[in-house]
Amino acid sequence: MNITVVGVGYVGLVTGAGLAEMGNNVWCIDVDERKIENLKNGIIPIYEPGLEPLVKSNYYQGRLKFSTELCEGLLNSEIVMIAVGTPPNEDGSADLKYVIGVAKDIAKHMDNYKIIITKSTVPVGTGDIIENIIKEELVKRGLSIDFDVVSNPEFLKEGEAVSDFLKPDRIIIGVNSERAYNIMKDLYLPFERNGVPVFIMDRLSSEMTKYAANCMLATRISFMNEISRLCEKVGADITKVKLGIGSDPRIGMSFLNAGLGYGGSCFPKDVKALIKTFEENNIEPKILKSVDETNKEQRMFFIEKILGFYKNDIKDKTFSVWGLSFKPKTDDMREAASITIINYLREKGAFIRAYDPVAIENARLIFGNENIEYFNDEYKVLKGSDALIIVTEWPQFREPDFKLIKKLLNRPVIFDGRNIYIPERLKELGFEYFSIGR
Ligand SMILES: NC(=O)c1ccc[n+]([C@@H]2O[C@H](COP(=O)([O-])OP(=O)(O)OC[C@H]3O[C@@H](n4cnc5c(N)ncnc54)[C@H](O)[C@@H]3O)[C@@H](O)[C@H]2O)c1
Repeated sequence: MNITVVGVGYVGLVTGAGLAEMGNNVWCIDVDERKIENLKNGIIPIYEPGLEPLVKSNYYQGRLKFSTELCEGLLNSEIVMIAVGTPPNEDGSADLKYVIGVAKDIAKHMDNYKIIITKSTVPVGTGDIIENIIKEELVKRGLSIDFDVVSNPEFLKEGEAVSDFLKPDRIIIGVNSERAYNIMKDLYLPFERNGVPVFIMDRLSSEMTKYAANCMLATRISFMNEISRLCEKVGADITKVKLGIGSDPRIGMSFLNAGLGYGGSCFPKDVKALIKTFEENNIEPKILKSVDETNKEQRMFFIEKILGFYKNDIKDKTFSVWGLSFKPKTDDMREAASITIINYLREKGAFIRAYDPVAIENARLIFGNENIEYFNDEYKVLKGSDALIIVTEWPQFREPDFKLIKKLLNRPVIFDGRNIYIPERLKELGFEYFSIGR
């Protein structure tokens, strides 16, 4: 099939390369000229395990093409996927300006039947908005061209995006016409044949499913963070409680880690956007407001542990930070806990020595160079620091050389925002160790 993917970010690039891998001809379109030029030269703009070989092999075999010109793909494709960003507005609602911009561009140039698919996460009802925009543009052009708008939300996780795309848990398709239904079935046939469940539903339910899924996961995280605070008060251990409840198949182990709360480009904005949708429909989103609030508080809860240890005086203290990206195996810094924590500590006069395996370049754009130094080695970053702060649980931090850590730090203090060590063991090793909910 011939497909155009508009927006070559975490979702668009993985989707485009993944569909090309299945044998489709895919045009990936982005307004970012540098990104497209780099991709043509084999430079992948994001860190995502397994993405580079997938993009390169499909590009060199001619199934994956990159361009800044929408028409280059559009005029050759029956299917157009919109995968541009939907960042939050000031009031928390999803900003649809990029999605709407692309819909208008499609309508201005389409010359025959198209299926326009929203891969971007868009509020319930956006499919109707896109449909109306395209109709209006076509009327302006004096044309009557058939088209269908389909919702096909993406559930991939950064850090595992390639495997998630190629082997998804499920595929959701929200479609209101039989013609589009048949084409979508064909598009996802290779997945269905591999046993991936494909759920076909109306467009509104599909749009709702994406938000409900992300908000459910965010709710689990905030719930566990709240329980972790109580654990500390009563002397229980949240990591044991997690195992105790997660082994119940009705609950399951995923998304039950207490820590620094959720970050990234999806959960924070999607929770806020769904809150807004509730309010627009005159329903009080009691649960989601608490989820959002608890998440915000959790970072402060951790910062207060650090401040408490130093009796609120961290002026001229030096802290080494392990992990800057919002989660392991990505270079994405959007809404990362490191931003809140590092900025707070710097404001109070501390100096930061920062290490991350892949996110330093993106982090530098956020933090600049004032009162922060970046390192490309997890041990060099520790030298002469007053404490180690663990913000992102990269796998390599799990079994470090504790003797070396102790030798390099001024004082053997670890603040662990991700509960990756066992408190008793760290005590035996001579560390003053602080974690969450234990
Ligand atoms: N990142 C994730 O893990 C993830 C997972 C599932 C769903 N989503 C959703 O997918 C959407 C995209 O997210 P992302 O993280 O890939 O975003 P991103 O910011 O990484 O990429 C968006 C891209 O769209 C491009 N763009 C903007 N306007 C354009 C236009 N008019 N024409 C062409 N390109 C344009 C930007 O230059 C950018 O490269 C969002 O709605 C997000 O909520 C993201």
